[in-house]
Amino acid sequence: MVTFLRWIARLALVAVVGVVAAYWYGTRLPASPFDGVQAAAAMPLETGQYAARVADCVSCHSTHDGQPFAGGLEMDTPLGSIYDTNITPDPEHGIGNYMRISRSWKMREEECVMDVIDFSEAPQEVSRRRLADLPDRVVEGDPQHQSELHFTSPDGNLFAGSWTSTPGKWHAFTDKDEYCHIVSGRCALISEDGKRWEFGPGASFMIPNGFRGYWEVIETTTKHFVVRQH
Ligand code: HEC
Repeated sequence: MVTFLRWIARLALVAVVGVVAAYWYGTRLPASPFDGVQAAAAMPLETGQYAARVADCVSCHSTHDGQPFAGGLEMDTPLGSIYDTNITPDPEHGIGNYMRISRSWKMREEECVMDVIDFSEAPQEVSRRRLADLPDRVVEGDPQHQSELHFTSPDGNLFAGSWTSTPGKWHAFTDKDEYCHIVSGRCALISEDGKRWEFGPGASFMIPNGFRGYWEVIETTTKHFVVRQH
């Protein structure tokens, strides 16, 4: 009986040691090239280290005889070979000066604080002008313009709004891309070589940079526009 109990005790000891060993083996931190590496970033280091270990970045971004993360491993794809990027902090060969990710995040942050621009709300700016006051623009009539600017991009090169013109004909701009949507009225674009496109309410069209010709407003026209300057 005593012998039997001894055997039970021995088995229990072996089981406990086995469980402890399995626990140690299963939860130990595997060796990594990150061991002892000091990071420069102020971000929580553990987060990046954890992600890099989980995703095993080093397995792809290293060759067997090269430095960890220095890239250069050839990967065959059906489209040909690609070589993994050097993702060490080296400013010249690695990604030490790599701005693309942070820049795109920054842009996304800026975009998030922009509101949608509703053209039915008050415009940023309203301007009126008699086109005949500009030299050499008017070809026929005395067209008067009212422009309501609803949006100007931070670099000033893209703007959008609404515009109304009384009848007349004038030289179109040549150095802009312009998308137009006609809200009311009747107008036409006429190229220098005589082609004519006539538009009424609901029509949309694009006047690409480089178009040479004329605007003709037949009946007072209101359009929404998006213009990109060059
Ligand atoms: C399965 C293999 C693999 C793993 C794992 C991997 N990468 Fe890559 N990575 C690549 C390849 C291949 C490229 C090059 C792609 C190319 O040139 O189009 C690359 C490119 C990159 C680039 C450059 C991207 C660019 O736009 O220039 C960075 C940065 C990068 N990896 C970081 C990481 C990080 C960080 C991890 C771990 C979280 C990781 N990679 C895990 C294969 C891998």
